[in-house]
Amino acid sequence: MGCSGCCLLGITCLVSVYLHCGAVRVTVRESSLEVVQGDSVTLPCSFLTAMPLVRLSIIWTLTPLFDPDSPTQVIVYDQGQVIESPAFTGRVEFADMPWSADVILNDTRVSDGGIYRCVVSNPPETGDPGIGELSLSVLAPPSLPVCLWEGDTDAGGSVTLSCAVVEGVPTPQMSWEKLEPEQITLPVNMEGELMGSVKIVNVSAQNSGVYRCSVTNVLGTQNCYVNLSVYIPPDESPGILQGVLLTLFMALVLLALLVLVLWLHRSAQESKWRYSREDEECYNEIRYTPSLIKRSFV
Ligand SMILES: *[C@@H]1O[C@H](CO)[C@@H](O)[C@H](O)[C@H]1NC(C)=O
Ligand SMILES: *[C@@H]1O[C@H](CO)[C@@H](O)[C@H](O)[C@H]1NC(C)=O
Ligand SMILES: *[C@@H]1O[C@H](CO)[C@@H](O)[C@H](O)[C@H]1NC(C)=O
Repeated sequence: MGCSGCCLLGITCLVSVYLHCGAVRVTVRESSLEVVQGDSVTLPCSFLTAMPLVRLSIIWTLTPLFDPDSPTQVIVYDQGQVIESPAFTGRVEFADMPWSADVILNDTRVSDGGIYRCVVSNPPETGDPGIGELSLSVLAPPSLPVCLWEGDTDAGGSVTLSCAVVEGVPTPQMSWEKLEPEQITLPVNMEGELMGSVKIVNVSAQNSGVYRCSVTNVLGTQNCYVNLSVYIPPDESPGILQGVLLTLFMALVLLALLVLVLWLHRSAQESKWRYSREDEECYNEIRYTPSLIKRSFV
C-alpha cells in the first residue's frame, strides 16, 4: 500500500523499491565506539527515506551501562526543532541535519557510557521507525586509590592493608607490593572490583616497611602507600638483670644495716655492762659509807 503511494513519486519510488519500500532505513556505521573521557565523539546514524523531510523526527536515547533499567533521552529532533536533555545540554548537537542523524557529543563523561539508539521516523512514510544501535565506552584513567591499614602492629599481631579505587574504565587491575628491602608482590583478596586487601599474620620486624598499592588500566597507573612499622617490645633480659642486681644491692644494704645494728647493740651492751660494774663499785662505797657514819656515831 505504501509502495503504490510512493511509486507515484517517480525517482523516490526507485529508491524505495530498492530498499524495501515503506519504511525508514537506518544504518549505523560503527556499532562499538571508545572515547577517552573529556574527548569528543561522533555517534553515527544514517537514514534513508522516500518521503520529504517535513515531518522528520529523530530521537536519541541512552541506556547507561551503570543503570541499564532507566534509558534516558539525549537529544530530539522534531519537525525542525532540537531539544537537548539536561544531562547533555551544551555538549550534544546534530552533526549534519537533516541529511543524517549523526550527533557529536563533546566533553564526554564516564556516565555517558552505554547503549545509544537513534530512532528515525518520517511520516507519512509508514512502517516501523528505523532504529540504529551502538555502544559507547568512555575510558577513564584510574582515580587516586586510598590505602588504609588496620590491625595490631605489635609483634605477633595481624594487620590488614586495604586499597580502594573509585573510578577507572576499563576496571583497573590492582596489585600490592612490599618495596623494601627487595620488591615482593603480595597476594590480593579482591572485595568486588574496586577494593583489594592483603592480610599479614604474625607480624615481625621483617614486615616493617613501605607497601604500595597500584591500580592500572590502559590509560595509566596510580599508587598509594602504607608505611608499616611493627612494634617490637624491648628485650626483657636486661630488665631481669637490673632487677636481680637491685635486689642484690638492697640485700647487701640490709645486711650492712643489720651488721651495724648488731654491732651497735653489742657495743652498747658492753658499755652498759662496764657502767653497771662501775655503779656496783659506787654502791659498795655508798653502802659502806653509812656504816662508817654509824661507826663514827657509835
Ligand atoms: C563541540 O566541540 C566542537 C569542537 O570544539 C565545537 O565546534 C562544537 O561547537 C561543540 N559542540 C557543542 C554542542 O558544544
Ligand atoms: C610467629 O613468628 C615467630 C617468629 O617469626 C615464630 O617463632 C612463631 O612460631 C610464629 N607464631 C605463629 C603462631 O606462627
Ligand atoms: C616510613 O616511616 C619511616 C619511619 O617513621 C620514615 O623514616 C620513612 O621516611 C617513611 N617512609 C614513607 C614512604 O613514608
